[in-house]
Amino acid sequence: MSKVSIVGVGDVGATLAFTLQISGLPTEIVLVDARRETAQGHAMDMNHGLFFTPPVKIHAGGFEDGANADLWIITAGSRQRPGETRLDLTRRNVGICSDILRRAEPYLGEAKVLVVSNPVDILTYTVWRASGLPRSRVFGSGTVLDSARFRYELSRWCEVDPRNVHAYVVGEHGDSEVFLWSRVHIAGNPLEDFCRRCRKGCGSAEKAALERRVRESAYHIIEAKGYTNFGVSLAVSKIVAAVLRDERSVFTVSAILDGEFGLDDVSLSVPCVVGRAGIHRIVETNLSDEERNGLLDSGGILRAGIDSLGASPFDGRGDERAPSP
Ligand SMILES: NC(=O)c1ccc[n+]([C@@H]2O[C@H](COP(=O)([O-])OP(=O)(O)OC[C@H]3O[C@@H](n4cnc5c(N)ncnc54)[C@H](O)[C@@H]3O)[C@@H](O)[C@H]2O)c1
Repeated sequence: MSKVSIVGVGDVGATLAFTLQISGLPTEIVLVDARRETAQGHAMDMNHGLFFTPPVKIHAGGFEDGANADLWIITAGSRQRPGETRLDLTRRNVGICSDILRRAEPYLGEAKVLVVSNPVDILTYTVWRASGLPRSRVFGSGTVLDSARFRYELSRWCEVDPRNVHAYVVGEHGDSEVFLWSRVHIAGNPLEDFCRRCRKGCGSAEKAALERRVRESAYHIIEAKGYTNFGVSLAVSKIVAAVLRDERSVFTVSAILDGEFGLDDVSLSVPCVVGRAGIHRIVETNLSDEERNGLLDSGGILRAGIDSLGASPFDGRGDERAPSP
């Protein structure tokens, strides 16, 4: 038996729920939304597809219906209003997430909490602070999608299947994210070895252009269709698989750091082993000076973002140092 509760079934949450239904991973999916009727509509629609998918119990409900879930996924959020600053939006989404956590808390039990809503790093930190849960059990989808986009762009450029490319984006899920070029491997070869045997002769201009395509992809998608949903839902469903099946897969989820990579008391993406317990281990890895400095800068930007919110969202809790994963 494996149960997933999704809070916020807008474009991302509903697509994620459908992706999970098709995957056959959970045996129960609960849809919770401030717009109860919308959640009920999605549940009814998905139930009508049960003739074609693996069996799964799907229903809309309140927070109490999410009790005993293995995983709570927060995809609720608010979009930027005209004239609103990024900080205003952050404050509003911090408020939404704090409220969700307060209402879900009596039913969390041993569950893990996965945050997808943006700004995902700050919200992951907020949820962790407000929950008082061990840091292994609260994490964000972080740069899992950005890493997938990096692999996709590399695979197109190098003309190999993305599944034969290993590449990570770390740091903030946002403008200060860092591409770990020194860690890129293709079919087991470090990138330099792979490039040496290729006639394309790529240099720093090609790398910069590739980074730009990854960084700007969400903006282009949102410009074209108003939101992103498919890529992120597939990325999150892989994280769900890792937890429900104890896969111990390595993902760049947003994790609360406690000294790893020289960063402390901030949530950002680094490679993590993900399984039934949540984050089993943070994989510290050698970085070039440029990458290490980029990651520290990204941590500084996120820390400043958290500080700018003041102490109020954290409800005075989570001060105790959580056990290391
Ligand atoms: N981390 C990523 O890679 C990634 C990618 C895409 C989108 N996102 C983020 O995911 C979030 C959702 O995006 P979307 O496009 O689905 O937005 P959306 O507006 O379509 O849906 C948001 C849903 O949240 C619900 N909601 C709001 N407040 C609530 C509350 N207090 N309790 C329960 N439900 C509540 C709304 O009713 C709505 O159904 C956004 O913050 C977005 O930026 C993250």
